[in-house]
Amino acid sequence: MAIPRFVHITDVGPRDGLQNEKQPVPAAVKIELVQRLQAAGLKDIEVTSFVSPRWVPQMADNAEVMRGIARSSDVHYAALVPNMQGLEAALAARADTVVVFGAASEAFSQKNINCSIAESIERFRPVVAAALAAGVAVRGAISCAVGCPYEGAVAPARVAMVAGLMRQIGVQQVGVADTIGVGTPRAVQAAVDAALQHFNIDTVTGHFHDTYGQALANTLAALEMGVWHFDTSVAGLGGCPYAKGATGNVATEDVVYLLQGMGVETGIDLEALVDAGAYISHFLNRPTLSRAATALLAKRQRTV
Ligand code: HMG
Ligand code: MG
Repeated sequence: MAIPRFVHITDVGPRDGLQNEKQPVPAAVKIELVQRLQAAGLKDIEVTSFVSPRWVPQMADNAEVMRGIARSSDVHYAALVPNMQGLEAALAARADTVVVFGAASEAFSQKNINCSIAESIERFRPVVAAALAAGVAVRGAISCAVGCPYEGAVAPARVAMVAGLMRQIGVQQVGVADTIGVGTPRAVQAAVDAALQHFNIDTVTGHFHDTYGQALANTLAALEMGVWHFDTSVAGLGGCPYAKGATGNVATEDVVYLLQGMGVETGIDLEALVDAGAYISHFLNRPTLSRAATALLAKRQRTV
């Protein structure tokens, strides 16, 4: 399999990246981050989530953030929705894409969205139908596609099962998510392969957290299968409050650097992306987790 010539990246930093932050991040900072990402050429940005503010306080400003973005007509703004209440708020906020999020592990489903896998699918069914009827694209995320913080290793058959259910209810694109970053390339390939039983290669997304330092290798492994959609997070921000110990997604800067080096188009300006990462890292008062950004920032220092 030849690797794809173009890769579509969704930056999930404003949502996955910031949802786990303990310190309050003002809406204005989130808006500025989104602006900088679109200025760097990102065409798909996961801005926020319309979830219960009791469960994820950091995303309570969802509508304000969506409202504050100076939108670009060629950028898609996505939001997570767990139920009809979330969808209604996301539609009112003019989300272009909504993401329903389920799991391949029962325990994680209960911890994260307070229901079983089967119940989550029944909850998503009317959400997906209403979103599609409103002309909004629908993605689905399958958390714990490789491993679960509560159940341990997750069999690919579980991923296939959830992918099949998501397909049945009309989800258009499915994300194979290594929530806690335990996957290694062959395990990730098996999970992607399981999703491919129900979704074609153009509708499968890799969403890899980097907890064990494997996310870039896992990205390459998925790329070699022909996967060309990835969720990544600027500055490597991220984590899930209901997956203890999980760290950020693979850094967008690292993935773009990898792809550029391999001659794969992304449409993203790496230097502008590094600036976006530096902006949010400065606000959070810690160094970027992106190795490529660290190197490029150091190089800038040497040349001034
Ligand atoms: P629940 O408590 O079972 O909900 O939570 P409920 O329906 O019984 O409602 C209880 C209260 O929540 C009510 O308010 C509702 O109005 C309110 P009250 O009457 O008590 O004042 N509520 C809402 N408020 C705002 N927006 C909503 C909403 N829904 C209910 N949409 C629920 C169930 C799903 C709501 C909750 O568990 C929840 O919000 N979970 C979200 C957890 C989350 O956001 N996790 C992180 C995102 S997933 C992730 O990061 C993984 C991913 O990156 C992929 C990967 O890496 O694996 C995507
Ligand atoms: Mg995630």
